[in-house]
Amino acid sequence: MSPTRRTFLGTTASTLAAAAAALARPTDAAAALAPAITTGKGRPAVVASENGLRGVAKAREMLLAGRDPLDAIIAGVNIQELDPEDNSVGLGGLPNAEGVVQLDASVMHGPSRRAGAVACLEDIATPSLVAKAVMDHTHHVLLVGRDARRFALDLGFTPQNLLTEASRQAWLRWRATLNPRDAWRDDVDPRAVPFRTGTINMNAVTAAGDLASCTTTSGLAYKVPGRVGDSPIVGAGQYCDNTVGAAGATGLGETNIKACGAMLLVEFMRQGTDPQAAALKVLERVLSLAEPRQLDARGRPRFDLTFYAVHKDGRTAGASFYEGAQYAVADDAGPRLEPAAYLFRRGERPA
Ligand code: GLY
Repeated sequence: MSPTRRTFLGTTASTLAAAAAALARPTDAAAALAPAITTGKGRPAVVASENGLRGVAKAREMLLAGRDPLDAIIAGVNIQELDPEDNSVGLGGLPNAEGVVQLDASVMHGPSRRAGAVACLEDIATPSLVAKAVMDHTHHVLLVGRDARRFALDLGFTPQNLLTEASRQAWLRWRATLNPRDAWRDDVDPRAVPFRTGTINMNAVTAAGDLASCTTTSGLAYKVPGRVGDSPIVGAGQYCDNTVGAAGATGLGETNIKACGAMLLVEFMRQGTDPQAAALKVLERVLSLAEPRQLDARGRPRFDLTFYAVHKDGRTAGASFYEGAQYAVADDAGPRLEPAAYLFRRGERPA
């Protein structure tokens, strides 16, 4: 860890001043500095990545109507999976290097202690529902590739072309930047090419304290065909323990898989750490496991990762490496975006 590294929590000037005093102090100091959680206004509560704003509203409505927490969050993430404008998930997701959309998803249901997942799934817009079907209809946890697709078709899911024209154009632009000496057009500004690891994670606790978690994604844009990220990995992309809480992640999956981030976050909450401090501690762990090529000279990450958490008692949190990330919450105070806690100021981000 760089000695110049700073730990910043929250967004108020006083919080920043306190955090500045904590230069190079370890995670426990960061946890001690965490401001009171302002978003945990009681159950039912739903927390998600920023693109889940509509979804958390939908999920909380369903929880207030007494619906199962997993059904509620899957209905929430389905909004993004079916939205062709969200190019990080489902229909319209950015494709792999060969122009094929391959989707990953996983779910956990706290009350029944079950899990389901799919990876490299093609042609089905709602992998979250296929993950739930793996959980409901088999004794397995994870199905992949062609066989996951066949499983979905057997259960009545409808296949469709998931590559929208906008995502196909983005893929063509990406391909044009690969090699200036190849035969493809090379007059494309690489900065105009969206290259991202979007995803949606959503977690919920019911009025009675039951929990569920779900993450679904099209994964890293232009990935090597067959690449699987953290989203379908139970314990990395999402995790839920009905006695403690639920958590999940968005961002560069390879960095999270090594830390088993979602499970670690829940374990920190089990030890009594509040959700926000727990999420920051997981980011510290991810950083400690990152490879030199993924860090700048001062030890700051060249990648993004954000964690989201809900405690069984209804507290929610989101935390990211860099200032500026937001997360979606719906609790007693209604659906809204909240600023995520962070480890590094926006201006400290490597170019
Ligand atoms: N977190 C999504 C991915 O890396 O695939």
